[in-house]
Amino acid sequence: MNYKEIKEILSLEKTTDIEKLFNQAYTVKKEYVGLKVHMRGIIEFSNICDKNCYYCGIRKDNKNVKRFFMTKKEILNATKWIYEKGFGSIVLQSGERTNKEFIKFVDDLIKEIKKLSNDKLGITLSLGEQTKDTYKKWFDLGAHRYLLRIETSNPELYEKLHPSSHKFAERVKCLEYLREIGYQVGTGVMIGLPYQTIDDLANDVLFFKKMDIDMIGMGPYVTHKDTPLYNVVKIFDKEKQLLLALKMIAATRIVLKDINIASTTAIEALQEGGRKGGLKAGANIIMPIVTPENYRRYYNLYENKPGIDMDEEKTFNEIKNDVKEIGEEICLNKWGDSPHYFKRIKK
Ligand code: 5AD
Ligand code: SF4
Repeated sequence: MNYKEIKEILSLEKTTDIEKLFNQAYTVKKEYVGLKVHMRGIIEFSNICDKNCYYCGIRKDNKNVKRFFMTKKEILNATKWIYEKGFGSIVLQSGERTNKEFIKFVDDLIKEIKKLSNDKLGITLSLGEQTKDTYKKWFDLGAHRYLLRIETSNPELYEKLHPSSHKFAERVKCLEYLREIGYQVGTGVMIGLPYQTIDDLANDVLFFKKMDIDMIGMGPYVTHKDTPLYNVVKIFDKEKQLLLALKMIAATRIVLKDINIASTTAIEALQEGGRKGGLKAGANIIMPIVTPENYRRYYNLYENKPGIDMDEEKTFNEIKNDVKEIGEEICLNKWGDSPHYFKRIKK
């Protein structure tokens, strides 16, 4: 699909047309990645962040947040739960920090997770922009996937959403470093951002293609009252946001085909059972939050984050039901790598 065709898809309004689009994406998903859902348990181990993205509830300057940093023991406990449940992979996420102590903490964590799981648990990191050396060190220690959203592929829009110290070019460079080092590289955008147009979103899909990305995690932008961007949106139309996010998943599946795409938490935040919609529009990955309950409520990137009061056992049961309901299967005890990655490295 070219730019014009992607734009047309994203602009579809009639229910029958949209259903047709989702069916088409589903056919592509079935053919290229199969009807298996892979699980990644995500541990959001700290909400301390050195950055100030205008959309994010845990931005550095938000003084209304209680900051936390989980201990290694707490993280390893959550990891153990993930491992014992048979999730093939873990995602470690936190606010962005680049000081030596933080990097060393992550070094040790990777080593201990490897040990705890006899090398079996796949490790994905989502820890923002780091130096190439740091990325390389974490890779050598055993992390093999990295998620770093570009947030928007439009540099001018990026500038509107971030303070001037946050550089679009730097973010792109980080994605390149990750690929050079050998990671499976994931990126993504927020959908329905203030000032964002359909043209921007169509370009986002082409950006994923151009960057030869292996994994996508993207979801709707959701407001947070303690952020500078909050007042820009006068009416927050949940349904519209959700539909646009699902259309983006479908378009990305049709264009990129053999990559992993997550049905993200932000989709579930807009509608209970939303993750099912994500799977039906072409996603094949679910990332349940396994952050302990006493911390989870403080990792609020946006409002109404789901599962704040639900324990991980219950969330997992819900997911199992959702997956069964749509006639798919959860794939356990496997890394569930992006098939695209293997084709890419062969080339
Ligand atoms: N709405 C939706 N997603 C958000 N993120 C941060 N703030 C918001 C928000 N208000 C996303 C960003 C970031 C990821 C960790 O969370 O895309 O990369
Ligand atoms: Fe920090 Fe990430 Fe939030 Fe930006 S989006 S303020 S880097 S946690």
